[in-house]
Amino acid sequence: MKVKICKLLSDKHLQARELRAEVLRKPLGLPADDPAFNDKESDVHFVALKKDSVVGIVVLVPDYKPGVGKLRQMATAEEVRGEGYGIALGSALEEYAAKNGMTSILLHSRHYAVGFYEKLGYKITSDVFQEVGIDHFVMEKDIITG
Ligand SMILES: CC(C)(COP(=O)(O)OP(=O)(O)OC[C@H]1O[C@@H](n2cnc3c(N)ncnc32)[C@H](O)[C@@H]1OP(=O)(O)O)[C@@H](O)C(=O)NCCC(=O)NCCS
Repeated sequence: MKVKICKLLSDKHLQARELRAEVLRKPLGLPADDPAFNDKESDVHFVALKKDSVVGIVVLVPDYKPGVGKLRQMATAEEVRGEGYGIALGSALEEYAAKNGMTSILLHSRHYAVGFYEKLGYKITSDVFQEVGIDHFVMEKDIITG
């Protein structure tokens, strides 16, 4: 199991985008190429690899607010769930954010993923709200610096 940072529009990034469309968007009947879903050059794109195949992705928006990174678009391939790739992606993102001066991470969790983020140490900090037609919560975590 490896987690790497990949460049925007590199082979690995394109494979990760396909996986993400499959896992996060297709089940909701959403198009894969929604501009709001597109990644920015300034985002940090993490991919999880199993024998060089992309099996997971997560994106960090650095300094979404001063000192706060935003975790978005977390997804792992169905066939590897429960093997630790989700935790590995979250941990790599936090380590990178801490090294780059961020002191906390926030995210919008789909209601059915809350238990997963709790395992990573996130806590709910909002009331329920709707995003892409699904109940979501803001979750936050302080990360250790230095
Ligand atoms: C949520 C998701 C990224 C977790 O990935 P994963 O590869 O299964 O994660 P891990 O194998 O590292 O699991 C870590 C732990 O979290 C648990 N877990 C995973 N998904 C969970 C969930 N939805 N609710 C509660 N616990 C969950 C696992 O059972 C495991 O527990 P353990 O350590 O006691 O064995 C993956 O299930 C996924 O892509 N889901 C569909 C997309 C999605 O919901 N993304 C989040 C959008 S906000």
